[in-house]
Amino acid sequence: METISKFEVRECDLAGRIGKFTVRGRTIETPNLMPVVNPNITSGENAVTPEELKETFGHDMIITNSYIIRRGDRLRERALDEGLHKLLDYDGMIMTDSGTFQSYMYGSGKGKEVDVTPLEIVEFQRDIGSDIGTILDKFTVPSSTWDEAKQDLDITLDRGSRSLKVMGDMELAIPVQGGVHMDLRELSGRSVREMGSAYSPIGGVVPLMESYRYSDLVDVIVAGKRGLGPSIPTHLFGAGHPMILPLAAALGCDLFDSASYAKFAQGGRYMTRDRTRHLREMDSFPCSCPVCSRYDPSDLKDMEEPKRVGLLSRHNLWSLRGIMNEIRISLKEGTIWEMVERSALYHPAMYSAVRRLEQHKGHLEESAPRSTRRFMCSDLALSRCRPEFQRFKDGLTSNYRTVDHGRTLILTDWGRTHSHKVEVALNSASSSGDRVVIRTPLGPAPYDIEDMYPISQSVFPRPESLTDEVMEGIISSMEPVIRGSRGEVVHWTGAEDPPETKGAGDEMSFLALKVANITRMQFGIIGGKGADEILFGSWDTARELASRLIIKRSRRTGKIRNVMLSGKDGEEVHLLSLRAEDGMFTLKLEGARRLHGAGTNWRVVVEDDTGEYNAQGYNVFCKFVRSADENIRPGDEVMVVGENGALFAVGKAMVSSRLMLEAKAGVAVKVRDGVKDKKAPQPSSP
Ligand code: GUN
Ligand code: ZN
Repeated sequence: METISKFEVRECDLAGRIGKFTVRGRTIETPNLMPVVNPNITSGENAVTPEELKETFGHDMIITNSYIIRRGDRLRERALDEGLHKLLDYDGMIMTDSGTFQSYMYGSGKGKEVDVTPLEIVEFQRDIGSDIGTILDKFTVPSSTWDEAKQDLDITLDRGSRSLKVMGDMELAIPVQGGVHMDLRELSGRSVREMGSAYSPIGGVVPLMESYRYSDLVDVIVAGKRGLGPSIPTHLFGAGHPMILPLAAALGCDLFDSASYAKFAQGGRYMTRDRTRHLREMDSFPCSCPVCSRYDPSDLKDMEEPKRVGLLSRHNLWSLRGIMNEIRISLKEGTIWEMVERSALYHPAMYSAVRRLEQHKGHLEESAPRSTRRFMCSDLALSRCRPEFQRFKDGLTSNYRTVDHGRTLILTDWGRTHSHKVEVALNSASSSGDRVVIRTPLGPAPYDIEDMYPISQSVFPRPESLTDEVMEGIISSMEPVIRGSRGEVVHWTGAEDPPETKGAGDEMSFLALKVANITRMQFGIIGGKGADEILFGSWDTARELASRLIIKRSRRTGKIRNVMLSGKDGEEVHLLSLRAEDGMFTLKLEGARRLHGAGTNWRVVVEDDTGEYNAQGYNVFCKFVRSADENIRPGDEVMVVGENGALFAVGKAMVSSRLMLEAKAGVAVKVRDGVKDKKAPQPSSP
């Protein structure tokens, strides 16, 4: 079946993403917010017209209600006659809803249905030329029992599968329902995906948001997304309040609709990112949009109501636009967490909702890149939900190698690692055979991997500003280090003079240890062997390893750049290069060949036919991926291999392994070097 819509994920941060969504030749960038257009009010002096939404506010997508259009004779006839786009005088993407919400809002008593059958309303949306129609789902309220919610869900799913047969060339939205029963939410998402739906809203959440049940909303979104998987563009139905948008986007919601800009305006309410205010409480505007630049609150208060509502609606739209722009900027630069953490302070219910992520670390980890631009943790109770904490701890436990050492030197004040004096002292201690460990809120951070994300990128509050409880946790996280120490343990705050070093100093051994442990932390243990030993051969002492490696450093900063081995005939075999931004390696072809030979965790398997293109340096598209190792996350270094094991290329994963497998469009791996790429250095023959 030819697909009507296409969704490509371009960039990832936490479970959020930047995507490109195309329906019938119209493309929008996600996350995106579609204003709700009332089909009865699309003209008039003060109305915000669909054309203005597009031309002035930049909205390439709107949503309107097909049930309302169908109910009025004049609108219905015009819509059927001229088509929806002409009716609204709008040439962007139009989504229509079905009347489900009307039956929830205005239905008299439970189970009251609107006067249209489930298939009639889908056919109507198709016939008026909607780009995305919505089935007549059963709006399941949070107070529904499991049995009631299950009964509703069965009806929704049955209507979904019947509607798919009459959708024509319109995309069809099948909402996830299930009330607050997480097993049903997940089942609902999975069923929608298995039905072959290519667009899904998470429905039934308006009552949760109206009563500030944001923590429950988080559970509902995560459960729904678990079932839907990462490949289906996901819309959070009825979420137009600015406060919730960053968190929802970070959890993987791609689209939002807002009637609130107009509804709030009708009630005299002015939206900002963290709250709404009544116009009568205001004597100045904290905003510089065109409306607020031109008018004062007193001007608006003196106006006729239609004009005031029109101007407030426009301010509210500017406000939403600013927030959506900031969400996209943050996702692109890898700082959506920081936006989420700020939003926790907007309302106590938001704080609880962000804290609830503690229970969904797995969901965040599944799609989060292993390094991002910054690692700022202001509120450790919140930041601890970031995937970096667990990953770092797991990496230390299973991958890090401690070697023979003299003393153990513990730097107790993490804030001082950036001082030149402290750095010199730590280098000198490390080079003389001490083991150096920094006490940080991440746990013990060995100094040899300090350059690697997230240690040196992390910014934490000063130790004295943490609560006793948090500080005790940090102190007790050091116990294994102290217990495992082979010599004396020295604590140093970094403020006094550094403890004297004893050994003569062997900087090359310390460099080799750095390379080995970064390699192990990044690529792990493969078939019982550390990635370092697979790449460089087994080693007993850092000195021995140092004699084998050729480590090229930046002349300016002294930081490691390239790692090679001396091969036969004195040639240098280039295996790895270190990225300055996050202190992690990129794989060269020869490095990839060695890891691949050991049977690795970093493989993306493609068919031999398409692999030939990757061998020439072309990117891997998701639709050609046959399998991918489960541990792959966006940004990871991966090998592109054939079904029979041939190595075609090495590059950077753009999305997680699950998304590579489930997505029908988009780039899976950005190939850096292909084995037949003329520009790439070729692996030496084995
Ligand atoms: N608008 C807000 N919530 C819902 C929902 O659950 N279903 C539909 N169809 N529309 C909605
Ligand atoms: Zn404004």
